[in-house]
Amino acid sequence: MNKELRQAIIAGNWKMNKTRPEAKALIEELKPIAEKATCGVIICVPFTNLETAVELTKGTNIKVGAENVHFKESGAYTGEISAAMLTEIGVEYVIIGHSERRQYFGETDETVNLRTKAALAAGLKPIVCVGEVLAERKADITKEVISTQIKLDLMGVSAEDIKKTVIAYEPVWAIGTGEVATDEQAQEVCAFIRETLAKLYDQATADAVTIQYGGSMNPKNCAGLLAQPDVDGGLIGGASLKAADFGVLLEEASK
Ligand code: PGA
Repeated sequence: MNKELRQAIIAGNWKMNKTRPEAKALIEELKPIAEKATCGVIICVPFTNLETAVELTKGTNIKVGAENVHFKESGAYTGEISAAMLTEIGVEYVIIGHSERRQYFGETDETVNLRTKAALAAGLKPIVCVGEVLAERKADITKEVISTQIKLDLMGVSAEDIKKTVIAYEPVWAIGTGEVATDEQAQEVCAFIRETLAKLYDQATADAVTIQYGGSMNPKNCAGLLAQPDVDGGLIGGASLKAADFGVLLEEASK
């Protein structure tokens, strides 16, 4: 495996946090810190902060992402936001299929697939989340679960488009729990995702895809995780809400 074939990316997932003044303050604090990073830097923020984030990060190395997108172009979908609505204001990335969407908002592999294809068609880069729940890990079916999610979530995505797609391996038991996967667990599943992609596409294509780890990654535990050959950065919840913490992750992923 060759890390030079792809970019390590640290993406913050702010979830349902930060009012506009709070978002402004965090982004201003982050800008000089992020400037030094050679890895990709993305902040995924609530819809109400997207325009603010795009405006404040213009001319910087920070890219902006949304936390969800609908799969239809327009229509009677009260409360939803289309891919074109995001690209038109300068949003470049979007998180799709986060476990919180799957758990609380009825997201399925089928809708993840629809959203992923709609995002790509509109020129948005998806960050597609997969991961097993604790019972699945205990039952030793992690690889079956991940393989099924990858195949269903990415069904019909072309080789060209998969290279624009980021995959985030987020074991559900590690999200927001403080219980991080071990370096070996993260590497094992990220490598397995790459193997699965190599079978679905080819090795060169699989080697070009950024595969992140997410779930309680923080300044204290990030070095070992980010040093793994198949872990290309991270999707960061809690630790993305403090500029100094996020800065440590950026520094580590830039090594
Ligand atoms: P966490 O969240 O870093 O707070 O565990 C990660 C995520 O949900 O993407």
